[in-house]
Amino acid sequence: MQKTQLNVGLLGFGTIGTGVVKVFQKNADLIRQRTGVEIHLARIADLDITTDRGVTLPEGVLTTDADAVITDPNIDIVVELIGGYKPALQFILKAIENGKHIVTANKALMAVHGQEIIEAASRAKVDVMFDAAVGGGIPVISAIKENLCANRFSTVLGILNGTCNFILTKMTNEGSDFAQALAEAQQLGYAEADPTFDIEGVDTAHKIALLSALCFGTRIDFDQVYTEGITGITAVDIDFATQMGYKIKLLAIGKQGNGAVEVRVHPTMIPKSYQLAEVDGVFNAVRLSGDFLGPVLLYGSGAGMAATASAVMGDVMAIGRSISSGAVGRTPIMGYCQDQVVDLPLRPMSEITSHYYLRFTTLDTTGVLAQISTILGQHDISIQSMIQPESHAADSVPIVLMTHEAKEADITEALHEIDQLNIIQQPTCLIRVEHDLD
Ligand code: HSE
Repeated sequence: MQKTQLNVGLLGFGTIGTGVVKVFQKNADLIRQRTGVEIHLARIADLDITTDRGVTLPEGVLTTDADAVITDPNIDIVVELIGGYKPALQFILKAIENGKHIVTANKALMAVHGQEIIEAASRAKVDVMFDAAVGGGIPVISAIKENLCANRFSTVLGILNGTCNFILTKMTNEGSDFAQALAEAQQLGYAEADPTFDIEGVDTAHKIALLSALCFGTRIDFDQVYTEGITGITAVDIDFATQMGYKIKLLAIGKQGNGAVEVRVHPTMIPKSYQLAEVDGVFNAVRLSGDFLGPVLLYGSGAGMAATASAVMGDVMAIGRSISSGAVGRTPIMGYCQDQVVDLPLRPMSEITSHYYLRFTTLDTTGVLAQISTILGQHDISIQSMIQPESHAADSVPIVLMTHEAKEADITEALHEIDQLNIIQQPTCLIRVEHDLD
């Protein structure tokens, strides 16, 4: 019999959970008008059910017992907003076993344990949606799976972490150093008390692993994703980047070509004239390149209560429509039919090519440039431009080079040799440069 009311159970009543409650309460009529069914928030489980979140709930909605939600036969959709691996994975798997459809904002879980969840969902014939996991309110996952699904994607590039983008923007616009910018992000609530996952690039890596899998129809082994955060970025490099017409962003890069994929996260210089370079502060953006569409840039709020709750509710309503129209399973969870998903090889970092910014710290003496350029030349690395500002330091001088496209393995070997020269005072700073926006 066709259901006229669907019941939702929420696991996790934190910031995003509170946002979801607000959407349910403010837009109940809209939800019905757009889906044709009553979608009712029936239960919420959290260990803390006493803190005032500024929302009023009917008696009996709150529980400390997640099992009571997961196994409740009246619940149709379970929304997981706990985050992390444990116990979120166990809860999701048990909910699936109990025939519940799943909505989650949990990028770490989907990037690392997605395959297990997808296989369980496919056995149980339930839907799993996770649009809120990447880009907060930006509808990038739906765009890849639905609107743009006629395209083969060659690249997906993203600024996917608001904390890092805020810090880099502060450093660029105000000359702050990393520690100052991080402290300000924490004061404003843009960075966690323990910001490790954000500033070390792990959060961004989870997100680009998911986007690459969705774009390229392949499984991505998260442990193989090259991940470098922003903790090594200094005001000196930001300043040189500005002088050379670039901005430094923590860029997530997914590329497909020649039978392999590249998935990597690292600080990247991009020309100031590119739209991605203008994505500042806590905002996120994703640039997709499709063979028919060409490039498209999606931009918006990548985190926060309202934007993420908007994405979560979009998924709840999509599943509501599928249930009410008998179309559960209509859209494959990762955007490709499960039996069409392949394991494309992940290109090792040594084989990628890029342009490179290299900052050498050298003695101010004769023949320095000749020694450096000789070694670069021996490794097939061609110099595109160079800056050597007058130095006021008694014993060292920076030399900044931008290379033409080179192979990472050649750069690594050349820097290994250069850094052993007795004219070199500190390990050379390397930042990859992205020009490859087709
Ligand atoms: N810490 C993340 C960010 C939150 O700063 O973007 C959203 O994943």
